[in-house]
Amino acid sequence: MENEPSEKSAPSLDRPIRRACILTGGGDAPGLNAVLRAFVRVATDLGIEVYGSQDGFDGLVQRGKLVKLKPDSVRGILPRGGSILGCSNRANPFSYPTIEHGQEKLVDVSDTVAQRLRDHAIDVLVLVGGDGTMSMGLRFMRMGIPVIGVPKTIDNDLNATDLTFGLDTAVTTATWAIDALHSTAEAHDRVMILELMGRYAGWIALHAGLAGGADVILIPEIPYDIERVAAKIRKRSEGGASFSIVVVGEGARPAGGDFATLSDGKEGHLPRLGGIGQLVAKQLESRVDHEIRVTVLGHLQRGGSPSARDRLLGTRFGAKAAWMAKEGRVGRMAALKGTEVVDVPIEEAVGHPKLVSVDGEFVRVARALGVELGA
Ligand code: F6P
Repeated sequence: MENEPSEKSAPSLDRPIRRACILTGGGDAPGLNAVLRAFVRVATDLGIEVYGSQDGFDGLVQRGKLVKLKPDSVRGILPRGGSILGCSNRANPFSYPTIEHGQEKLVDVSDTVAQRLRDHAIDVLVLVGGDGTMSMGLRFMRMGIPVIGVPKTIDNDLNATDLTFGLDTAVTTATWAIDALHSTAEAHDRVMILELMGRYAGWIALHAGLAGGADVILIPEIPYDIERVAAKIRKRSEGGASFSIVVVGEGARPAGGDFATLSDGKEGHLPRLGGIGQLVAKQLESRVDHEIRVTVLGHLQRGGSPSARDRLLGTRFGAKAAWMAKEGRVGRMAALKGTEVVDVPIEEAVGHPKLVSVDGEFVRVARALGVELGA
């Protein structure tokens, strides 16, 4: 295996791992089932028994939600979206929603999780998740619980890995949506705005916008000036193009303005982003002559059958996690570096989202093609 230098010097657990528990934390991403399938098959083959915690950490807090996973349990799941274990982005064991005297309170139940792991003689916790789940993994490591991470998110905003699975399916769906909008935009001479997911990172919007041939792409990393967007649309009209396609990442915002949110984040949770498409439409109304329509693609980007690329990356990460378990390489996360799957310290992944570089190649290509990025 070709490894990064940090991999070679990684400390490993000095006792054999006989039993692992895997969970899929946070929101789902296409490719999760590929990870579960590969992990269960490879780990079982290496003599490691596998348990699955249902609905993220819920399965380690509540009773009756820890299931034994065997190769039979993961048969035929590669084409399925979601996660056969279920996901939860509310099940944060360090801030767990609990009803006390009819009122919801957020309680630290991490000791319950630790006890449950001891009760089941589980040697390692395999966390498939994004930044939030990896941060929880670090806290469990500090409590003496061995953790292995597998990076997941359609947003692709996790550091220390070049790519997360889920992005490719999301971009494919979003590109299909842009293609579909083109024909109706042209038929009605309209400006079509498509709001895409991605949180504070513009990977989905930029990749799909480029693949679908959007005229304007607004991403969180480049706060936009609406005058530039309007000028681009007017220029297209003057040049004979009767319509324009504007792709907007949900975390995009006007220069000097705020993010558009649907609701505030509760303790331990991020705010729900959304509404920037409508804001851009409103800002454009008085500035262009076209009718404007807004489409919010929403969770269609997360659902459905994973693309071949996401199945492949999920499979590689799942197999890698099983090898890491066998070798006792804990406190580490599987990661793609260039063309190789390696493992890196979990610390490297958390705290700083991986954003689109404002002078990176994708942005330069977009500008070279005449795409308006708003600044
Ligand atoms: O992190 C993945 C993601 O789909 C983001 O792109 C989006 O902002 C968020 O999750 C939506 O979360 P929820 O499923 O809780 O609405």
